[in-house]
Amino acid sequence: MSSPNRRRVIAANWKMYKTQAETRAFFSEFLPLVAGVTDRDIVIAPPFTSIAAAVDATKGSNVAIGGQNIYWQTEGAFTGEVSAGMLAEAGCRYVIVGHSERRQFFGDNDGAVSQKARAAVADGLTPIVCVGESLADREAGRTQGVLSQQFIGGPGALTADEFSRILLAYEPVWAIGTGRTATPEIAGAAHAFLRSCVHDQYSAELAASVRILYGGSVKPDNIQGLRAQLDLDGALVGGASLDANSFAAIVNCK
Ligand code: PGA
Repeated sequence: MSSPNRRRVIAANWKMYKTQAETRAFFSEFLPLVAGVTDRDIVIAPPFTSIAAAVDATKGSNVAIGGQNIYWQTEGAFTGEVSAGMLAEAGCRYVIVGHSERRQFFGDNDGAVSQKARAAVADGLTPIVCVGESLADREAGRTQGVLSQQFIGGPGALTADEFSRILLAYEPVWAIGTGRTATPEIAGAAHAFLRSCVHDQYSAELAASVRILYGGSVKPDNIQGLRAQLDLDGALVGGASLDANSFAAIVNCK
C-alpha cells in the first residue's frame, strides 16, 4: 500500500483525443461513477480546446482539470503557446510537464521542464512532472542514470519550496501506449530510486511527502498490483482514461 500519509492521485492524460462534445459526453457518464470518491484526487487533462467544456462539466464535483503543457513566459510573442496563468484562469488546477511525447516530438529538454514546472507553481498550478527511461536506456542498464539526470536537470532544479508543490510521475517510455506495463516490482524500484533522488537533493521530509505517480499502460486489470507498491501514490493514465467505465474502475481501485 502507498503511504497513508500521502493522498493518492489518479490522473488522466487524454493527449490529442476528445472534442468538446466528446468531453461533455464523457463527464455525463463518468461523474456518477466516481461521485462517492473523497479519499483521493482525481484529475483529467483534456486538450486545450476541451478545457472549458471540462471545467464547466466538473464544476462543484470531485474532479479537477489540468492542461497537458504550458510555456513558461507569462505572455508575449510565442505563437501557439499558452501560459500557466492562462490555464489557471481557464479553471485548471494542474498541468502535465515533461511528458515523454513532449520530450520526443517537441524538443522539451530538462531545462524546459524545470522552467515550466516553476512557472506552473508560480501561478498556483500543480505540475505533474514526468520522467522516464527509454527501452534502450533500460536494456543498457542506464535506467538510474537517466532518471537521476532528468531529475536533477528538471524538477530537482526547483527550490525546496517550489518542489513541495509538485507531483512527480515515473513514466517508462517503453510502457507508454504499448500495453507493456512495468511490473509492480520494476515500477516500485524506480519510485524508490526517485524518492532517494529527492532525499539527496532536498531532505528526508520532502522525500517522504512527495507523491509519485506511475504511468505507462495502466489498466483496470493491473492497477491493483501496482497499487501494492509502497512508493506508488497513484497513476497517470493515457489510453484507459478515454473510456468512462475503465477510468472509473482505475479511480475506484481499493
Ligand atoms: P498510456 O499513456 O496509459 O496510454 O500508456 C500514459 C501516458 O502517456 O501518460
